[in-house]
Amino acid sequence: MQQAVAILDSGVGGLTVVKEVLCQLPQEKIIYFGDTARAPYGPRPAREVLLFTQQIVDYLTQFQPKMLVIACNTATAIALEHIRSRVSIPVAGVIHPGARAAIKSTRARKVGVIGTKGTIQTGAYEQVLKQISPGIQVVGLACPDLVPLVESGRFDGLEAIETVERSLAPIRELPMDCLILGCTHYPYLSKLIGQVMGPEVELISSADETAREISTILGHRGMLAGADETPQHQFFCSGQPQLFKQIAEMWLEQPIEVTPFDWQIT
Ligand code: SIN
Repeated sequence: MQQAVAILDSGVGGLTVVKEVLCQLPQEKIIYFGDTARAPYGPRPAREVLLFTQQIVDYLTQFQPKMLVIACNTATAIALEHIRSRVSIPVAGVIHPGARAAIKSTRARKVGVIGTKGTIQTGAYEQVLKQISPGIQVVGLACPDLVPLVESGRFDGLEAIETVERSLAPIRELPMDCLILGCTHYPYLSKLIGQVMGPEVELISSADETAREISTILGHRGMLAGADETPQHQFFCSGQPQLFKQIAEMWLEQPIEVTPFDWQIT
């Protein structure tokens, strides 16, 4: 059986990474877990995010994946090092890739980061950005209303426009030439975010760079799937499977099968 790349998120956000993996590494099998019943992770205490991430990793490791991807910024900020110390396969997060993409893009060296309360509170992006590029100016903003909007499938329409405008109001006038979408849910709202921030601000999603990192890690280890593989992807979600399927098929532009997962019966 083909060994998979296991990707996890609090909900549908990690599908933005899945989309890039499907595009850059079409021969790779993906096993995805969206913890939609317990999303959002952003406002939860760190110990809960750590516990939930560990529980999902424990579930996914039974499929013997060749690598794990924590496609959730909040879980990456809080749990990446812990998970790395607990498993023997490579584990990628989304913060380093997002930070690297921003550094490539910014000319003014003035970068904005939007994310969940959990991500912004850890200061993880600022730390990584300044480690790679000392002197870079970083302004972070928590946007707690955006993930619930995306998880409910309301990413256009008046409510979405008003919520994005209100959320970004504190930074829209600040000098910056790139804005990191520091939550994997935010690319669903990138059209609206782009309209609010204006054409001079480049929006950075970590999805593209994360897929490249997955490719590099698997390539270095000689673990890339062969060109003759026809992967059978698997999608698990702990909340409403119909809503997950609807959002996933719209975003991935292909039909998928969703297996409902119930934390009560584990
Ligand atoms: C959340 O569950 O609050 C968002 C996930 C993320 O930070 O990417």
